[in-house]
Amino acid sequence: MAQIIDGKGLAQQIQHELSKKVQLLKSQHGVVPGLVVILVGDNPASQVYVRNKERSALAAGFLSETVRLPESTTEEALLNVVKKYNQDDRFHGILVQLPLPEHINEQNVLLAINPEKDVDGFHPTNMGNLWSGNRVMVPCTPAGIMKMLEAYQVEIEGKTAVVIGRSNIVGKPMAHLLIEQNATVTLTHSKTQNLPEVCQTADILVVAIGRGHFVTKDFVKPGAVVIDVGMNRDENGKLIGDVKFDEVAEIASLITPVPGGVGPMTITMLLEQTYKAALRSSSSKEE
Ligand code: GUN
Repeated sequence: MAQIIDGKGLAQQIQHELSKKVQLLKSQHGVVPGLVVILVGDNPASQVYVRNKERSALAAGFLSETVRLPESTTEEALLNVVKKYNQDDRFHGILVQLPLPEHINEQNVLLAINPEKDVDGFHPTNMGNLWSGNRVMVPCTPAGIMKMLEAYQVEIEGKTAVVIGRSNIVGKPMAHLLIEQNATVTLTHSKTQNLPEVCQTADILVVAIGRGHFVTKDFVKPGAVVIDVGMNRDENGKLIGDVKFDEVAEIASLITPVPGGVGPMTITMLLEQTYKAALRSSSSKEE
């Protein structure tokens, strides 16, 4: 039976330590890390994420602002909001919640965010930095997964890692972070042939395909580490992961639950990156 990774507990511990660092930054430099989250429309899942981000930011002692805009907001109006926060020194992190309504071009919006405030790591400059092995702002979900692997002392160097899902938010940056740690990485997706066999080669399997209970024990090598990024609702509205937890936990060595695994770590990384951006801006002012 696998050991269960306590993402929630680890997230609480890191956020507690972070709140102490925030107090120190405040008392020593008079700087309060500021995070603004911009939400367009009323996607129910996004509303929950945004509320959780706001709550965690406040609990850690941040200045937290949430801008809620109607679904009908034009791209130009959204760009103007982003520009306003680019120029507002009280905010060190700007996050535009995705997905955006269809009439808004996501790339245009992500490009408008000052890369130094892009705590999601989605701006092409930050993505390019990650590609070239320079970690500055890294997408929060993969960053949180790396933190969990580190906390549970999972050996990565020389291991075989398989990532299912090639999104810009999770799959692609995840592959890069694992490569940086000297894993041999296969990035798979919905069109990959013989997917269960490919996954069976994995010492570390990261699943971000967005289909409930997609990964069964037939995908998993005994003793593998299994990370489940999925957030799906079953027919009864219950939150379930991409992995069939009960049967996979029987053969894996380590596994993340849903909820309580990857999710809380994502928010923690968002706060940590905002704190680091605040730290950078306070030290650059002193120079
Ligand atoms: N939507 C789902 N995940 C994310 C995320 O990590 N950041 C943003 N901005 N939107 C998301």
